[in-house]
Amino acid sequence: MYAILKTIHGQLPFLLLAALSVAVVIFSLKLIQKGPFAKADKSLALITLIFTHVQLLLGIILYFVSPLVKEALNSGEMMSNAAHRFNAIEHGLTMIFAIVLITAGYSKSKKKTEDAAKFKTLVIFYGLGLILALSRIPWNTWLS
Ligand code: HEM
Repeated sequence: MYAILKTIHGQLPFLLLAALSVAVVIFSLKLIQKGPFAKADKSLALITLIFTHVQLLLGIILYFVSPLVKEALNSGEMMSNAAHRFNAIEHGLTMIFAIVLITAGYSKSKKKTEDAAKFKTLVIFYGLGLILALSRIPWNTWLS
C-alpha cells in the first residue's frame, strides 16, 4: 500500500506541475491579450484543480503510512533536524496551503462575470500556489 501510494504521489506531480504551469502561462497571456474565457480555459482550470485534490488526498494518506514521517515524529528532534522538519511539517503544510489557494482561485474566478477578472484571479491564485508547491518539493530525493 505504501509503495503504490508513494509511486502515484511521486508521479502525479509531473501532470500537476505541468498543468499548473501551463494554466498560469496561458491565463497570463490571455489576460494581457484581453482574450475570451473559453470552454478550454475552464477545463484547464478544472483539471488542474482536480489534480491538486487527488494529490492532497494521496498525501494525507501517505502521511500516516510513511516511514519517513514516522521516523521524524519519533526522533525527538523533529523541529531541530531540517530533514525531519521537512518530512513531518513543511512539505505537507505548504502543499495544503498551496491547494487552498488554488481552490480559492478556482471558486473566486467562477464568480467573476468579466473574462479579464476571471483570468486575473486565476493567474494570482494559481501562480502563488505554483510558487509555494515548487518551494517545498523534495527535489533532492524525488525520483532518486
Ligand atoms: C501539490 C501538492 C503536492 C505535491 C506536488 C507533492 C509532491 C511530492 C513529491 C514529488 C514527493 C516525493 C515522492 C518520491 O520521492 O517519490 C512527495 C512526498 C511526500 N508527500 Fe507530497 N506532495 C503534495 C502534497 C502533499 C500533502 C498535502 C501531504 C500530506 C499532508 C504530502 C505528504 C507527503 C509525504 C508524507 C511524502 C513522503 C513519502 C515518503 O517518501 O515516505 N504531500 N510529495
